[in-house]
Amino acid sequence: DLPAHVRIHEVGARDGLQNEKSVVPTEVKAEFVHRLATAGLRTIEATSFVHPKWVPQLADAEQLFPMLGDLKGVALPVLVPNERGLDRALALGAHRIAVFASATESFAKANLNRTVDESLAMFEPVVARAKADRAHVRGYLSMCFGDPWEGAVPVHQVVRVAKALIDMGCDELSLGDTIGVATPAHVQTLLAELNEEGVPTSAIGVHFHDTYGQALSNTLAALQHGVSTVDASAGGLGGCPYAKSATGNLATEDLVWMLQGLGIDTGVDLGLLTATSVWMAGQLGRPSPSRTVRALSHQ
Ligand code: HMG
Ligand code: MG
Repeated sequence: DLPAHVRIHEVGARDGLQNEKSVVPTEVKAEFVHRLATAGLRTIEATSFVHPKWVPQLADAEQLFPMLGDLKGVALPVLVPNERGLDRALALGAHRIAVFASATESFAKANLNRTVDESLAMFEPVVARAKADRAHVRGYLSMCFGDPWEGAVPVHQVVRVAKALIDMGCDELSLGDTIGVATPAHVQTLLAELNEEGVPTSAIGVHFHDTYGQALSNTLAALQHGVSTVDASAGGLGGCPYAKSATGNLATEDLVWMLQGLGIDTGVDLGLLTATSVWMAGQLGRPSPSRTVRALSHQ
């Protein structure tokens, strides 16, 4: 059975812009987030409080976040890797944070300069303090299907880290196919195994990158399993600077087009969203890779 409603977790301003060669001006980012909200998105990941040298594209988090203060009724989660990041986020009044773990050692090292267990130890006080502050905590889990250094990732390895994040107190998980190699049967196998190990589908979101053009098929497989939180990025922006083979996320327009066809409510105005991605593509100086954006805008 497909869910009646899908919550889209929009990641264009974070996952999208973290991967751009050029640094987008803060005012443009603020306008981007406002336009996404006007298009009807209600969960818009705003930025990351990571080390500015690791992700210079998002080094303006302190300037950007307060510019979004007028967005009532819009959840604005931010990425936080450690207590230093949490301090910065809480100081600005953020009340939805996300930690980001890896299912593989190679990516934990590349992205966090830690082993998997060291990064879990780094997140523990972050999650505990955030929960004590009554913040909502998302736990990203990267490389759930394949890893650029290690190849296919065994399901049990993913389940171990997923359970650790839930046991730590994360309110929800986001299963990342960071390099976009997943296929639908693999998605359903992982979801079934997580359920088997006590992680309910209601606590699971999916985060697909579209490298092999499978993001939408994988999303449908997850919806058929009962998943109702789907990450996507406007115009298909995205990637990860610490995983070279990662391309853009599932485009929000492609997702909304499919969900509309399935009669699933999202609250998103596809025309306004497409116009936003066309405008952003203009800012970035290249066309959106989203097929739906191209079809609807004759780009
Ligand atoms: P490190 O070099 O090990 O840092 O990096 P450290 O803990 O040794 O600290 C070194 C210095 O950095 C210290 O300063 C800290 O205060 C400072 P010093 O005492 O030397 O003057 N520092 C900070 N400054 C500001 N903000 C902070 C911060 N933390 C430390 N938060 C670290 C470790 C985790 C910081 C680093 O590896 C990092 O920032 N990594 C972030 C990488 C990243 O953002 N990647 C992209 C997001 S993940 C993703 O895209 C995947 C996802 O989309 C899902 C998917 O697709 O799979 C979510
Ligand atoms: Mg990602």
